[in-house]
Amino acid sequence: MNQYLSKIGRRIKEPPISWLMKTAIETPGLISLAAGFTDSLTLPVEETFLITKNIYKKAGKIALQYGSTEGDINLRQLTSDRIKMLDNVENPSYLPERVLITNGSQQFLYMLVEALCEEEDIILVEAPTYFVFLGILQSHNIAARNIKLDPDGINIDSLKATLDCLDKNGELQKVKFFYSVSYFQNPTSYSTAENKKREILKILKYYEKKAGHPIYYVEDTAYRELRFAGQDIPSGLSFTNLNNHVIYTGTYSKPFATGIRVGYAFLPPEIYQVIKRIKGNHDFGTANYLQQIIVEAIKSGIYAKHLKIIAKRYSEKANLMGKEIKNNFDFPVHYITPTGGLYFWVALPDKAKTGFKSRVFQQALKKKVIYVPGEICYADDPYFKKPTNELRISFGYSEETDISAGIKRLGDAIRESIS
Ligand SMILES: Cc1ncc(COP(=O)(O)O)c(C=O)c1O
Repeated sequence: MNQYLSKIGRRIKEPPISWLMKTAIETPGLISLAAGFTDSLTLPVEETFLITKNIYKKAGKIALQYGSTEGDINLRQLTSDRIKMLDNVENPSYLPERVLITNGSQQFLYMLVEALCEEEDIILVEAPTYFVFLGILQSHNIAARNIKLDPDGINIDSLKATLDCLDKNGELQKVKFFYSVSYFQNPTSYSTAENKKREILKILKYYEKKAGHPIYYVEDTAYRELRFAGQDIPSGLSFTNLNNHVIYTGTYSKPFATGIRVGYAFLPPEIYQVIKRIKGNHDFGTANYLQQIIVEAIKSGIYAKHLKIIAKRYSEKANLMGKEIKNNFDFPVHYITPTGGLYFWVALPDKAKTGFKSRVFQQALKKKVIYVPGEICYADDPYFKKPTNELRISFGYSEETDISAGIKRLGDAIRESIS
């Protein structure tokens, strides 16, 4: 029927996020705890107004012209300096020549898959993981293997067992990278400990000898700068003798303005040019105007100031959501209180199913509140049974009154569905 479409065109499914967003917009009075949107109240509106005025005064002609495929050199230098400063180490992996500026980190993830993967290749992912990334794999007919996730990063035994199994099945050559959301993970808010990152890199190095090609460690750090408690953790780029196959991607969307949508990646030299060529075909460069806004925000100190503002705000909203969960979820639940990012990841009793068709979801919808069903955050994997009793709820976008009302409604919906 759809034979005129490409294989991707035929295969691609409606991303669940589209339905969740449409329902949130079209249902009056609905509280969406599903969206990964950031806080609206603290968006840097005045600051960006001043920045743009300055841009017109100082570099209007540059900002309104096309730029280069790899991105503005000032922004690449500032990004290099920032991540080096966070990691507190100096080595060649931070060089601005290794930085590629992208249209959000989402574009980078898509280009990375295009650059490295063939149909039926295999990507290792955390279980659970960022479900939009799973959509990229599904549409390209790329398989995923779920690696069990613990609160301090993936379970090392699960990683080894999966790689051993792939080796035994003669499938190691198909494994191209391990994708990890290593800071305040989407959806769990777990962060990967420094010692685990070292172990992961050692294990991947061992198996890539058998695979006959690099197995990259892809660190998606989208939430790194949304930390409101605890210490930062160095990235894999910082391990000077282990980092040759580390790919680091980050974004200015979440920490500054999702509407500006500038992301970046630090890439090993052997794949930098390939991904740059792909970007050349995609759009031959991220909008220069948007890049200049980020340059000015960082140079003026507005960016650093903004990080402090959002840390305080998210800390307050996370505390409130934690309190409301404690007060309203009067049935057995498991969750950790996040110290950064945007999400609570909640496990209900086993019998409480949370999928789109479940009683819990339908009851929640009736009470005008929605969440992300946990099961969409797990890859289809024949070796893994997906849990069906979890949910992701976000304190990112909702204001205090909606957090309180939303959690109360959700508590009622769950209680009524499982009693
Ligand atoms: C883990 C993760 N990576 C990447 C992205 C994409 O962000 P952006 O394209 O705005 O940089 C998101 C957005 O929600 C995310 O949660």
